[in-house]
Amino acid sequence: VARKFFVGGNFKMNGSLTEIETIIERINEAKFDGSTEIVVAPPALYLLKIQEELKAPSQVAAQNSFTEKSGAFTGEISPSQLKDANVHWVILGHSERRSLFGDTDKLVADKVKAAIENGLAVIACVGESLEQREAGETQEIVERQLETIAKEISESEWKDVVIAYEPVWAIGTGKVATKEQAQEVHDQIRKWLAKRVTQSVADQTRIIYGGSVNGKNCADLANAPDIDGFLVGGASLKPEFIDICNSHK
Ligand code: G3H
Repeated sequence: VARKFFVGGNFKMNGSLTEIETIIERINEAKFDGSTEIVVAPPALYLLKIQEELKAPSQVAAQNSFTEKSGAFTGEISPSQLKDANVHWVILGHSERRSLFGDTDKLVADKVKAAIENGLAVIACVGESLEQREAGETQEIVERQLETIAKEISESEWKDVVIAYEPVWAIGTGKVATKEQAQEVHDQIRKWLAKRVTQSVADQTRIIYGGSVNGKNCADLANAPDIDGFLVGGASLKPEFIDICNSHK
């Protein structure tokens, strides 16, 4: 089965309602050939409004969700609430959640499990810091993050997961990974999936790259055999997001 190219736009904590509606209008008016799945993640406050305005087949994603169904968890959103609101996708384990808000490997894995159990699909983010890369620990770090998730989900649940490889040193820095650097890690992740889960999960799971992707560097990266799309931050707010969505040939 061919893996459908996947482009996510993570708006992070950016944009006013008016600004985000302008971005959505641009996406609605763009021409896409249907070969790429497009998902945008506005701040939670705007999810429902943007979901109404965004034209299918593009979809919205939440930027986070919690492990529990309901209760005294001020500030959190549950997977069942997202499901109830027809929000099908959620980004989990983003490095900003890990480094700024205390999302440990285990918490991320528990969130992934809860999201999938509630019928959501997950963009699960992994990636090493610059220090870890320089110490030659990239593969070990990424596999450790994935292993924690693999412990919580069954083989059949991997169909609801898109893995986003986002090296921390490339996020928001303008220092995009080279095609070779990204391809090497994506290839290792796919081999790990084959060994740890199954060959068919390895063949079917989309592994997307994130970190300073823009309208200029996307086409080259999109050519790599194991790069199945992108998770785009800064450039998802700009007109070049359309070019990134159309970068798959
Ligand atoms: O989720 C997106 C990533 O953090 C990438 O962000 O494209 O601004 O580097 P960036």
